[in-house]
Amino acid sequence: MFYEIGTPHGLPHDPFKACVVPRPIGWISTLSADGVPNLAPYSFFNAVSSEPPMVVYSSNGIQPGRNAAAPKDTLANIVATGEFVVNVATWDLRDAMNASSVAAEAEVDEFALAGLTAAACRLVAAPRVGESPISLECRLHQTVELPADSGRNVLVIGRVVGIHISESVLTEGRIDLGKLRPIARLGYRDYACVSETFLMTRPAGGDKLAGN
Ligand SMILES: Cc1cc2nc3c(=O)[nH]c(=O)nc-3n(C[C@H](O)[C@H](O)[C@H](O)COP(=O)(O)O)c2cc1C
Repeated sequence: MFYEIGTPHGLPHDPFKACVVPRPIGWISTLSADGVPNLAPYSFFNAVSSEPPMVVYSSNGIQPGRNAAAPKDTLANIVATGEFVVNVATWDLRDAMNASSVAAEAEVDEFALAGLTAAACRLVAAPRVGESPISLECRLHQTVELPADSGRNVLVIGRVVGIHISESVLTEGRIDLGKLRPIARLGYRDYACVSETFLMTRPAGGDKLAGN
């Protein structure tokens, strides 16, 4: 099948998000200008460079009960403070991650709502999820307004300035996926847990242990 965007696809659900899978979940914590911690998951998220390390996420659509132009709290906080933290969502933290996605008012602290610890960061004022084994401290690089059929679509580009890694997910100095068990977003209501990996060596000259 083929369909042009903007014309009917003829399927029971929009297949787009199920075409780009799995998507890592950027579980983003911020601090409002008034000092209220905020936490929400974003699966339009990824790492886009490593030297220096940079990440992107996208804030989409309309928050229920708000004006179409109003930013989600995460975006508003990042624009106000220039900082955010990306926490890795894991199998053990899946329910807390889901709970933190609630469309709460800006005054609501989703750490408390999801029963999580707002742990101190080293280089940014925003808190990290204490229970998450990996957190990336980030500074805002740029926001880019994207076309939006409804509400706002804003791409946020961040520069990673510090990384927390719990010893509990390391084996011989390498991040052990069997210990980390990160979860990822698929299409529809589906998720994946990374539990199986395999090794492949790049053609001669292209191999780097830490490479892409
Ligand atoms: C797994 C998951 C992934 C999500 N990904 C996105 C996303 O990429 N972009 C987005 O705008 N909302 C996404 N959401 C919805 C937001 O988490 C939700 O709108 C949340 O209330 C935003 O909170 P905030 O206003 O505190 O930023 C996602 C929700 C879940 C559960």
